[in-house]
Amino acid sequence: MIPFLSLKDVNGQYADELKEAACRVIDSGWYLQGSATAAFEQHYADYIGTRHCVGVANGLDALTLIYRAYIEMGVMKPGDEVIVPANTFIASILAITENGLTPVLVEPDEETLEIDDRLIEAAITPRTRSLMVVHLYGRCAYTEHIGCLCRQYGLKLVEDNAQAHGCWFERGERREERGETKEERGERLRTGSLGDAAGHSFYPGKNLGALGDGGAVTTDDTALADCLRALANYGSEQKYVCRYRGRNSRLDELQAALLDVRLRHLDDDNRHRQQVAAHYYDHIENPLVRLPRRMDDAQNVYHLFPVLCPERDRLQQYLHRQGIQTLIHYPVPPHRQQCYAEWHDLQLPITERIHEQELSLPMSPVLTMDEARRVVEALNAF
Ligand SMILES: Cc1ncc(COP(=O)(O)O)c(C=O)c1O
Repeated sequence: MIPFLSLKDVNGQYADELKEAACRVIDSGWYLQGSATAAFEQHYADYIGTRHCVGVANGLDALTLIYRAYIEMGVMKPGDEVIVPANTFIASILAITENGLTPVLVEPDEETLEIDDRLIEAAITPRTRSLMVVHLYGRCAYTEHIGCLCRQYGLKLVEDNAQAHGCWFERGERREERGETKEERGERLRTGSLGDAAGHSFYPGKNLGALGDGGAVTTDDTALADCLRALANYGSEQKYVCRYRGRNSRLDELQAALLDVRLRHLDDDNRHRQQVAAHYYDHIENPLVRLPRRMDDAQNVYHLFPVLCPERDRLQQYLHRQGIQTLIHYPVPPHRQQCYAEWHDLQLPITERIHEQELSLPMSPVLTMDEARRVVEALNAF
């Protein structure tokens, strides 16, 4: 069987380093709010390109606490609207409703599967305070148009970067011929540094995965980072003195030390994902199987490799019989979930079609090229 993702093998690549890091924490006798978390926060902020990184317990908390902090800071209030893609993982939406904010669901572009930036302006009302972009499947969903709209309407741009660690947004023409790289010109920015704040998940299956739960917020906004750090620590800036009604949401020393190891290898892991994806793009040829529009490699770290097929369930069963494990991301869109019964009448045909047709092919930093070839052969013979 070709597994969809073997976490044992992914972490097995770095087993010695991970074990050494874990032993260091165990031997230190210090397990929360110590030097390993501070080091990882600094390394990840440097990697993403933001002034601050605040470690938290998971990706949902990261996004929830961003909005909670904006409410505490008086930037938003319950009832305000947040524009968000209709086809996202439920956590993006939960972070909004948990704060009493109102999600406004916007359809994706069927070619990219990311929020359709042509539809955003029509969704803005006098109550809109924020836009959440979700870099779904590892693709950069930010566009210059999105940046312009946020500036024009004074919206806080929050990135859900749970699936896109290491991804870039590239602006403008290539200027390498003049000896300048985009990075030097400031035209190449990591997702997670494009807006006012970003939530990251380190769920084990993510491109940058912990060996348990973990998450982080990156931002250049010092006031937001300070407020959020307090909210994640019982609302305290100073021990036993509570400024806010906070919660306990911290990235622990063990996970931080393990993440530091994984971070060192993230770009290599992503490069392998891009090689697998290039093989899929170059060789999948089946009129029943549609691939999302191909992006420049830097702008897609292929957390997942989604394809669309009108006979998705039959395709999945067929691939299973061929020894290929696939998954569906996601079978039920947020507006059809039981917990959001008030949205059941919403008509979001593109979102619904994607959820009916999406199938994720095997994708990981340890999938061999031989396995990728077998996936393509099976798919083309469907
Ligand atoms: C797009 C997206 N947002 C948010 C989350 C929530 O992250 P976590 O599982 O760490 O809470 C996830 C991952 O699970 C995700 O894929």
